[in-house]
Amino acid sequence: MNTDLKGKNFVVTGAGSGIGRATALALAKSGATVFVSDLNLKLAQKTVLEITGLGGSATGHQLDVTKKSDCIALADLVQMERGRLDGWVNNAGVSSMNRLTALTEADWDFNMDVNAKGAFFGTQAAVSVMEKQTPDPVSGLRGKIINVASMAAKRGNAPFLAHYVASKFAVLGFTQAIAGELAELGITANSVCPGYVATSMQERELEWEASLRGISVERVKELYIADTPLRRLETAEDVASVILFLASSASDFITGEAINVNGGAFMD
Ligand SMILES: NC(=O)c1ccc[n+]([C@@H]2O[C@H](COP(=O)([O-])OP(=O)(O)OC[C@H]3O[C@@H](n4cnc5c(N)ncnc54)[C@H](O)[C@@H]3O)[C@@H](O)[C@H]2O)c1
Repeated sequence: MNTDLKGKNFVVTGAGSGIGRATALALAKSGATVFVSDLNLKLAQKTVLEITGLGGSATGHQLDVTKKSDCIALADLVQMERGRLDGWVNNAGVSSMNRLTALTEADWDFNMDVNAKGAFFGTQAAVSVMEKQTPDPVSGLRGKIINVASMAAKRGNAPFLAHYVASKFAVLGFTQAIAGELAELGITANSVCPGYVATSMQERELEWEASLRGISVERVKELYIADTPLRRLETAEDVASVILFLASSASDFITGEAINVNGGAFMD
């Protein structure tokens, strides 16, 4: 499988931690120049240091995916500095947890704004640059959009996460809708759907779920593993390697897909 990304330029949002960090590292190890962006610039710069420490190429950028102007500014910067934007990974995401009747409008807006609207703004910004590029002479493609959705984008049965589930179903619907439209421009759009990934987001969720269920954090972790046929928690690297596939020429003829990476926790 050819995952050589030498000379290619990628933006990863929320790349200061978890899946975004692992994705930025995987892309850089494959030769890409990575624009590591995060709401938290210090975290982004930490990822950049890891990449440059390994001899890779990366720069750090403060970017809030809920701000359209931030996304446009970074897409334009890549175009200006590198002459081409090959891929944009809409990874930044948030969650909160509560029973339906306790969820607030702020919970709903926070999850929808970062997870769904963030993917919309990131994609708009990326496409506005990609559509003006010449197609790759081999693949005929101008660029790739990769959205980090979730198992919760396909399986609604996720207690305390009604608003998060709604935001991730939105990401999958959005990905399918744009895949048809962007195919005409030679731009692919795909999603990955991770399961129970051990990141700082999961650490927060373990605490919330334990408290809502009245059980221990360890017990919640056991339940996640019991729900996963491959019987372990997922790692950020498990997800990053599938994103790398979607970023590479090995996936040039795939668009509109939503690839499960969940150890079998949900199959469709
Ligand atoms: N951890 C899981 O179990 C899991 C499962 C399925 C899907 N996901 C999805 O994977 C993605 C990454 O999650 P993670 O588990 O690595 O979480 P994480 O909390 O470890 O990392 C998320 C990163 O996004 C950044 N971020 C938050 N709001 C932002 C904003 N407005 N603009 C830019 N950056 C922002 C944070 O600073 C953080 O660095 C999310 O979209 C999440 O919904 C996670």
